[in-house]
Amino acid sequence: MTIDRAFRIADVDNRLYGSFIEHLGRAVYGGIYEPGHATADSQGFRQDVIELVRALKVPVVRYPGGNFVSGYNWEDGVGPLAERPKKLELAWCSLEPNYVGTNEFVDWAKKVGTDVMMAVNLGTRGPDAARNLVEYCNHPGGSYYSDLRRSHGYADPHNIKVWCIGNEMDGPWQIGMKTAEEYGRAAVETAKVMKWVDPTIELVACGSSFRAMPTFPSWEKTVLEHTYDHVDYISLHTYYGNSDNDTANYLARTLDMEEFIRTVVATADYVKASKRSKKEMKLSFDEWNVWFHTLESDKAVDPWQIAPALLEDVYTFEDAIVVGLMLITLLKNSDRVRMACLAQLVNVIAPIMTTTGGAAWSQTIYYPFMHASLYGRGTALKPVIETERYDSKDFTDVPYLESVTLFNEEQEEVTIFAVNRHLEQPMALECDMRSFAGYELVEHLTMTNDDMKAKNTELTPNAVTPSKIDTSSFSDGRLEALLPSVSWNVIRFR
Ligand code: AHR
Repeated sequence: MTIDRAFRIADVDNRLYGSFIEHLGRAVYGGIYEPGHATADSQGFRQDVIELVRALKVPVVRYPGGNFVSGYNWEDGVGPLAERPKKLELAWCSLEPNYVGTNEFVDWAKKVGTDVMMAVNLGTRGPDAARNLVEYCNHPGGSYYSDLRRSHGYADPHNIKVWCIGNEMDGPWQIGMKTAEEYGRAAVETAKVMKWVDPTIELVACGSSFRAMPTFPSWEKTVLEHTYDHVDYISLHTYYGNSDNDTANYLARTLDMEEFIRTVVATADYVKASKRSKKEMKLSFDEWNVWFHTLESDKAVDPWQIAPALLEDVYTFEDAIVVGLMLITLLKNSDRVRMACLAQLVNVIAPIMTTTGGAAWSQTIYYPFMHASLYGRGTALKPVIETERYDSKDFTDVPYLESVTLFNEEQEEVTIFAVNRHLEQPMALECDMRSFAGYELVEHLTMTNDDMKAKNTELTPNAVTPSKIDTSSFSDGRLEALLPSVSWNVIRFR
């Protein structure tokens, strides 16, 4: 591999390390919020969870959905608790008590040191509810909705900067699904009034729910033809899994993610050209993760419960490698993918798990996400890689080595993220990085395991964690390191 400080991809937007909390399962109730819990603060937020989230340094958290938002009346979640309605929640067939709403979530976000990315309902509602919510959240005072917020005890505006115009509106599972034409028209009218209330906000239009949607990528084309001048981002979502237990193929799935990003960029640039626009559309990969372990079992969950256990995937070692590969893919495309949200954060397809009334712990996927968030800030550099390749069931020419480098010029730090996809063999990595010849090797962290299905659970919370490799060497700008078979590696220099 060759790395040079001149091989710049982009200065990474820190919001690439965002995450997501939806009113779904035990993400909110029993996850971030559990008033009776031993660690609960005066507002009912679990401080054990707050600590685990803080350690991830998540810059932005998307809220309140997800599919949930397409049936949500934000007014149900503000004002005196005793007056808030319990409602049938149709996206996940649950009962929503509305104990947590906009203001409480903003308070929680402050406690964990993150910003809120707010989604508005384009399923059962539209421009009117959306502009009122912007007024409620961001207008200082002297108008009906800003004064309503003040009467609820929040004198200062929340100043929420990023807003998603609906969620996965192309999907038949979505409450109020729309055609691209219908959504494009609704989204542009919603965008206009939201920005008229607060011109400083940034807006995200819904892209396709995933690459295999039958309307992809004409959905993006039509939606952007309507919204191009009024929105700042188009969204992408994707989840991968290993239902057929084919690890070589599973580890190759990020080639699909790469192609997905490339196609959305090409489509957005086509619309830019056809509009003779000077503006470059940015991408928000605002849902990405592994999700497959609970797809079948969740079908048996009884409806209309408050906070049933849903989407509680227990992640394996190999899932953590795929999450590492997805992070590398986002970084390799960080010139256009400016924001991203690991979906989700607590209990629901999440790096952090809790027992209601009990402990909180980190899943396997917590670690690559934490490494990327801590060390993946600065300028992404594109390495030149020579590696052997393999074919799998769905992919050809899959490189065994996947890697990206981060150069934090301010801190004078360099970090290589690298995955060895080989199922049996360690890889002897030789890296020419002579433009960093004066640097010293700080550490080589790795995640590796003989058992692809090893997991962290409440009883064994540290079964899968990173460890240090002492055998790597760096001198005269040349790195030599051994990457274990199927491993996530973080090699740091200062
Ligand atoms: O993150 C879980 C769900 O996945 C979200 O609610 C939806 O947007 C997506 O289909």
